[in-house]
Amino acid sequence: MPKRAKISIIGAGGNVGATVALWAASKELGDIVGVDIRINDMLPVDGRMLDLAQAGPIELFDANIKATDDYADIAGSDVVVVTAGLPRKPGMSRDDLIETNVKIVKSVSENIKKHAPDSIVIIVSNPLDAMVYTAWKTTGFPTNRIIGQAGCLDVARFKTFIAMETGFSVEDINAILLGGHGDDMVPLPRFTNISGIPITEFISEERLGELVDRAKAGGGEIVKKMGTSGYYAPAAGVVQMVEAIIKDKKRILPCAAFCDSEYGVGGYFVGAPCVLGASGVERVLEIDLNADEKALMDTSIAHVKELVEVVQSTFPELA
Ligand code: NAI
Ligand code: 2OP
Repeated sequence: MPKRAKISIIGAGGNVGATVALWAASKELGDIVGVDIRINDMLPVDGRMLDLAQAGPIELFDANIKATDDYADIAGSDVVVVTAGLPRKPGMSRDDLIETNVKIVKSVSENIKKHAPDSIVIIVSNPLDAMVYTAWKTTGFPTNRIIGQAGCLDVARFKTFIAMETGFSVEDINAILLGGHGDDMVPLPRFTNISGIPITEFISEERLGELVDRAKAGGGEIVKKMGTSGYYAPAAGVVQMVEAIIKDKKRILPCAAFCDSEYGVGGYFVGAPCVLGASGVERVLEIDLNADEKALMDTSIAHVKELVEVVQSTFPELA
């Protein structure tokens, strides 16, 4: 009899983590362990996970949903999602979070290494590209089992704006995106189509450029509107990845994955189209970029390297 998958979410008491739990449960992807810290004498994640479990009889999902601050409970996890860390406030960039969140992600990763050494880890905490590096250095896991979520969200934002503009179904919009999870991420209009029809048949290049810019600044747009970062779409992006892994779907999704020769990155985690299946990142796909796209990708890669250098100089043990 196949067993249910086990999905642990570190930071599940917060906005993104709790929403990951919600969608993972409602899609019956597996049993869920929500880990978070105690605040004074309370363990707020316990309330959030119990509240979620009580939606089961209405939404008709079966899942064991547990809350804890004890990492022993994540033992045997198939996938561990890390959303622990501070989110940005208005006026902050993702990069402003680096020092605080490296400390958090490092300590979380030590626990993952100890208690769930065979798991596939999906990092969400920001600044994303530096946090993926931190988790990799701390766990020592093979690179196929350390993945960052950013591209699924960023490309979903781009697709949303195209759907709003054209009125077509979001289901029919195809797009890809490369680079780091910063304002210099690289959406690729040349590869964007609606049911195979090039996007330029429907939207002028100039207008498309505006939608690309809006997608790049999409995280900041939400922070400005509500005072903290978004969580519905980020969590949906994570669950898309979890589902691809747990169901061994071999989906091609944009993820922050370890790239060495690919795109000339030279050994950093950067957003690229990846084949996601039961082993995590099973392949990084390299596509032929034109000179303009390559220049944008090089700028984005340079920014990822700068972030990693900040981690390495502030925390020499991670160098
Ligand atoms: P939040 O503040 O609602 O939740 C963070 C949770 O982490 C809190 O419940 C907190 O108690 C917990 N936490 C803090 N230190 C911990 C530790 N040592 N161990 C376990 N749990 C700990 O923040 P939100 O909005 O859920 O965002 C979480 C992170 O995800 C932020 O860094 C944010 O910038 C990032 N983010 C990344 C996105 C992406 O696409 N990669 C998109 C949206 C947010
Ligand atoms: C976002 O893009 C803040 O990374 C987060 O919404």
